[in-house]
Amino acid sequence: MISRRAQHEMRSDLTKFFSSFFREYEQKTTNGMFDLSIGNVCGIPAVEETLLTALKHVGQKVSRLTKYPGTQGYFPLNQKIAELVKRETKKTVNPEDIILTNGALDGLYQLFYTMCNPGDYFYYCSPSFPYWSPADKAGVKSSVVVYKNPFDYAHTYGSIFQKKVQQNKLIKLAVVNEPHNPIGKSLEPEQIKILRDTANDNDVQIVLDEVYRSFAPEKKWIGESFDNAVMVDSFSKRFGMPGLRLGFIHAPKEIVPYVRAGMANQVVGMNMLTALVADSVLETALTTNFTKFIAREIARRQSKLDNALRKISSYGVVTHRPEGGIYRLLAVDELVENNKMDALTVCQQLEKHHVKAVPGIKLFADGTDPVRSPKILRLSVGGEPHTEEAGEKIVEAIEEIARGS
Ligand SMILES: Cc1ncc(COP(=O)(O)O)c(C=O)c1O
Repeated sequence: MISRRAQHEMRSDLTKFFSSFFREYEQKTTNGMFDLSIGNVCGIPAVEETLLTALKHVGQKVSRLTKYPGTQGYFPLNQKIAELVKRETKKTVNPEDIILTNGALDGLYQLFYTMCNPGDYFYYCSPSFPYWSPADKAGVKSSVVVYKNPFDYAHTYGSIFQKKVQQNKLIKLAVVNEPHNPIGKSLEPEQIKILRDTANDNDVQIVLDEVYRSFAPEKKWIGESFDNAVMVDSFSKRFGMPGLRLGFIHAPKEIVPYVRAGMANQVVGMNMLTALVADSVLETALTTNFTKFIAREIARRQSKLDNALRKISSYGVVTHRPEGGIYRLLAVDELVENNKMDALTVCQQLEKHHVKAVPGIKLFADGTDPVRSPKILRLSVGGEPHTEEAGEKIVEAIEEIARGS
């Protein structure tokens, strides 16, 4: 018999979202296949070299692994992260106010758990990262805007928040992810202002999901607009090391002990092996152009993909070149309507043309009304160095669908 608890948590089952690649990864990659699916950042030789050096370095510190980690993190790493944040944002942060987490996903869960009571609501939009999963596990409900046109995000996310907060006093937390996964755009200044004022007036905690910050264009950092925001960040994207499962939170001083306690109660402290590797990686990153190098590679892949995708707008596919991030969204509503198919079939057609993408249905929480949701595919350039060739294949597949062949 399955317990009620298990049934409840299955609503937030992330295995559907992330698929079963614990098998796929060990299989030989099919030759000639372009992987624009899951949001890995990989295939960058410099990352693997740095990781190898870090692992050798950690080999000299094995005695550290024979003791429990502290519940406070690993202070040398906290110090380096503080330095990294300062370089990227110009904001001075205290290493004591950084909490190491098991990836940004765990950081998000800790925040839902710490900042909300069961039955409270949080605000986010769809399509986006599956925030509903860690929120649901913490007993927090969704106040979600499902965008029929996902590209409306940049000029409406704040205004819709304002309306939702007026109607629902149980909204206690709002997530802002810049540049946004999956459209790769940043909020318009007016929308940021509305978000900030509404949050301040109604005591809503703003959580900035900053995992793509290093892939953002160099302009004003969104954090400057929010005095009391909590920031969630990660090694997964910026350092191309999602396998490390290292995330970090920066929170205002008065909140830090509560988030730390939540972490400590769950896992005692960070996995020390991960912390030591990350510490060594940061040593490199702070003395070289390592992160800039990764960001440039991602920008190169985006621009190559864009060269090819410019050709598909005439086939009923709406897609905009992202300002940053690793994703590219294709809205195929018109294409699927004209050809009496669904977005999943478009994905399957792409696969026949050797391109793996993520169908929109994977991006929406269970129970999202299909009529309200857009017909979309999400592409990621993070795991695919050959994006121009991949883009050409996508164009071929879309042309074929549009011709009805
Ligand atoms: C917007 C966003 N936030 C958070 C995460 C989770 O990152 P992590 O791998 O550090 O758990 C992801 C991963 O894809 C993401 O896209």
